[in-house]
Amino acid sequence: MQRQPVTVLIPGWMHEHAKSMLAQQFRVVEIEEGRLAELTESERLAVRGVASHARIDAHFIDLLPNLEIIANFGVGYEAVDADYAHKKNVVVTNTPDVLTEEVADTTVGLLLNVVRELSKAEQYLRSGKWMAAPYPLTRLTLRDRSIGIYGMGRIGRAIARRLEAFGLPIAYHSRRPVEGIQYPYYETLVDLARAVDTLISIVPGTATTANTINAETLKALGGNGVLINMGRGIVVDERALADALRTGTIAAAGLDVLQSEPNVPYELLSLDNLVLTPHIGSASEHTRTRMAELVANNIISWFETGAAITPVR
Ligand code: NAP
Ligand code: 8YV
Repeated sequence: MQRQPVTVLIPGWMHEHAKSMLAQQFRVVEIEEGRLAELTESERLAVRGVASHARIDAHFIDLLPNLEIIANFGVGYEAVDADYAHKKNVVVTNTPDVLTEEVADTTVGLLLNVVRELSKAEQYLRSGKWMAAPYPLTRLTLRDRSIGIYGMGRIGRAIARRLEAFGLPIAYHSRRPVEGIQYPYYETLVDLARAVDTLISIVPGTATTANTINAETLKALGGNGVLINMGRGIVVDERALADALRTGTIAAAGLDVLQSEPNVPYELLSLDNLVLTPHIGSASEHTRTRMAELVANNIISWFETGAAITPVR
């Protein structure tokens, strides 16, 4: 008797490269995000793998009793209820490492844009103002800055390596010191913010990081302070940040991620000491293709060998 091909479900958006790799080996079923309940029971029973960029909660997992693996597109996997999946013996995978250098490059680019006003200077040129006068000298510079990295993980370390090459001192905070890292370690985020003038956040969005960059942290960073958030929007209290930027509690900021992206609060849009980018940390064709490959290869490896490549635990 011929074996049934494994069914892999894709709820919502997925990178085309992942889809075509999966389609070569599996029966792929695509549905719109939030429409799982519309599948027939026999279709749901057939699903053994999920490739996803969507929210996967306990209810979703319960509707798929034969599910074995959820492959998340992205290293941050807060959209997946990984604790519940674990309880149900469902493996969750993410896409670490393949995006680390790209995201670190983007972070340094955003920092340079904030302090040297690259976007504003280009607007100045395009609007013809250069004909009348040179662009004003920037108040801020990267020179003599001291960097605090919130989250000395894979990407945090790649950012630190780059900024060390720029001649800047580095310090960091995570929940515990990282073995083999010589940069000064601060036990609390506020202590780190007080010790540096440039805070770069690259922690995951979790219950323990939510709104930790708040009025107290920003006050500790101080009037020459620059904040860059490349991690997750939930980490920054956006109202406190808007106040801090408006009143000069800190000097400037750059955000690649927002609390309820792609919605951007008006109070942030109206600030001219803030650079906003639309979650582009890993967004090159090169890197997104590698992420897609890893999503597909995790599922392929699971069904070929019984082991995923990058399980989250
Ligand atoms: P990682 O290697 O797991 O690093 C995460 C770091 O955050 C670790 O140092 C961890 O250290 C620290 N951390 C976690 N919870 C913390 C807490 N409550 N307090 C202090 N530190 C905490 O992950 P990664 O590969 O570097 O990626 C980091 C995050 O970047 C992702 O989760 C994702 O949200 C974000 N990201 C954004 C983009 C973008 O396009 N903007 C792209 C890729 C990734 P401890 O566990 O020791 O505390
Ligand atoms: C992606 C990311 O933008 O990997 C992550 O955690 O935030 C980014 O690389 C995202 O997952 C896909 O939109």
